[in-house]
Amino acid sequence: MLIEPNDKVIVVTGGSRGIGAAIVTHLAYLGYTVYGTYNSNPEQAQLIATHLSNEGAQVHFIQMNVASEESVRLGFEHIVKEKGRIDGLVNNAGITKDTLLIRMSEQDWDDVLDTNLKGAFLCSKAVSRPMMSQRSGRIINISSIVGLRGNAGQVNYSSSKAGMIGLTKSLAQELASRNILVNCIAPGYIETDMTEKLNEEQRKAFSDKIPLKRSAKPKEIASVVSFFLSEESSYITGQVLCVDGGLAM
Ligand SMILES: NC(=O)c1ccc[n+]([C@@H]2O[C@H](COP(=O)([O-])OP(=O)(O)OC[C@H]3O[C@@H](n4cnc5c(N)ncnc54)[C@H](O)[C@@H]3O)[C@@H](O)[C@H]2O)c1
Repeated sequence: MLIEPNDKVIVVTGGSRGIGAAIVTHLAYLGYTVYGTYNSNPEQAQLIATHLSNEGAQVHFIQMNVASEESVRLGFEHIVKEKGRIDGLVNNAGITKDTLLIRMSEQDWDDVLDTNLKGAFLCSKAVSRPMMSQRSGRIINISSIVGLRGNAGQVNYSSSKAGMIGLTKSLAQELASRNILVNCIAPGYIETDMTEKLNEEQRKAFSDKIPLKRSAKPKEIASVVSFFLSEESSYITGQVLCVDGGLAM
């Protein structure tokens, strides 16, 4: 496939697997220079980078723990030093530690909130300075429909994803005057390692409730990310788009 490079630099957190890897791949083929971040498992990140580089794409991976201010600061400083700009950030890194409230430990709560919500806060803060001086930028937060609807057994996760929606709307208002657009995608049931933990019965129960009667592939989220990064979405900010086969109607 012929890749036509453009001059835009996009950072995708948690880009080494699942939805993040699909986003990195899709954007790389569209010609963006993509920085994926990984927290552990550098081999997986290296495999993706090598494959895409062989295709002529501009893809780099850096280690970053989004829950650590120091790690986030160093990572973004490195990218700005190398490229001089950041045009887009996709806050995709996320974890689950599911259990009912009465069994949920303080650690389960803190770990999920620190990665999913504080991570998005730290990364957004790190890109807002370069984006403000460029007077342009796009931030896309990967929330979840459970952030809108809640889900038994996911008090920590759904709170973190609801928090990302508040973050999106507040930040959209703060940054609009600098032409920085902030939007949120709320995926439904996507086939990744995160949902692989579900058994056959749970999968069927989920799919049965979805009007389209199926789960989605990660690339069906990646294509929406590319829309929010493109000129096609130049008048949209502070929005939450459910990509869920109609589940959250
Ligand atoms: N799979 C689904 O059905 C689904 C539905 C709704 C929302 N989401 C959201 O989409 C995003 C991606 O999910 P996925 O299904 O691909 O999950 P996944 O578990 O396959 O991937 C998560 C990624 O986040 C990274 N990560 C975790 N902790 C990190 C940390 N502290 N610092 C940096 N990176 C870290 C992991 O290394 C991994 O690359 C998550 O935010 C998830 O909550 C997924």
